[in-house]
Amino acid sequence: MNFLRRAIRILATGNLLAFRRNVLRQKSGKQSRLLPRPLDAHRGVAGVINKILDVLPQRKNYLEVGIFKGATFQNIVAGEKWGVDIAPSFDYAELPKNSRVFVEPSDDFFAGLAVDKKFDMVYIDAEHTFHQAYRELVHSINHLEKWGVIVLDDTVPQDPIASIPNETESKEAAMRIHGKTVWNHQGDVWKLIFQVRNKHKNLTVRTILHPSRPRTIMWINNPFESKMALEETENLMALTYEDVFSSGIPNEFGVRELGEILSEIRSRKL
Ligand SMILES: C[S@@+](CC[C@H](N)C(=O)[O-])C[C@H]1O[C@@H](n2cnc3c(N)ncnc32)[C@H](O)[C@@H]1O
Repeated sequence: MNFLRRAIRILATGNLLAFRRNVLRQKSGKQSRLLPRPLDAHRGVAGVINKILDVLPQRKNYLEVGIFKGATFQNIVAGEKWGVDIAPSFDYAELPKNSRVFVEPSDDFFAGLAVDKKFDMVYIDAEHTFHQAYRELVHSINHLEKWGVIVLDDTVPQDPIASIPNETESKEAAMRIHGKTVWNHQGDVWKLIFQVRNKHKNLTVRTILHPSRPRTIMWINNPFESKMALEETENLMALTYEDVFSSGIPNEFGVRELGEILSEIRSRKL
């Protein structure tokens, strides 16, 4: 967003005071606070999530797993917004009225969550490892409204370096091979697509390529008779980035345009 456009949006969205307070906080070395109202609900991944929420029967409860600076979180339009992060990169002492932040590992958050708590949308964007993201997906499905949708970040690694599960090792490889300290990291979250395709066939899997990078969208085809449970993952352990992505993104990812996916979501019989 260029300077003028951003200034107009800050004013038009009623965020001026909070924005000015954040500028002062940053000048005195303090972390920013979340803005009380969405600054731009139409762009980036927040734009995608808001468009999906537009076609759901309700948008009362949103959960984000991994919130970092809150860039996406604060741009989501939903009745109540919950976020969980082991170490959020903003000051969460004061939050917008409809927001709650849980500072703990996602495993602990889900372990303490009331069984009947349901979300219309869950955005999973925390640690970039298959097993962690798999647990988060299973928990999220078990707390999803029947019309609910899950968006997963980091499902398609940009290259073999980015697909190294351990982030430190991935950065070290980027330094060694390309002499760069900054390198995107998506880890092995991609294995989740194969796990779901093989072991959880009652989930629909769709992937969008934009904005900025691919992300995967999932929803339940048929309500479960019982809770979703973690299944064996042995068969995936030997699979490598090269096995899977040497000829592009495989069919299992269900790559589609967002418009097509929104039509699919809207036309489900619930
Ligand atoms: C990629 S950032 C999230 C970005 C954010 N969703 C956005 O769109 O701006 C990942 C975040 O996940 C958090 N995280 C990593 N592992 C976690 C875990 N096991 N439980 C909760 N949060 C975790 C990190 O602290 C980090 O802030």
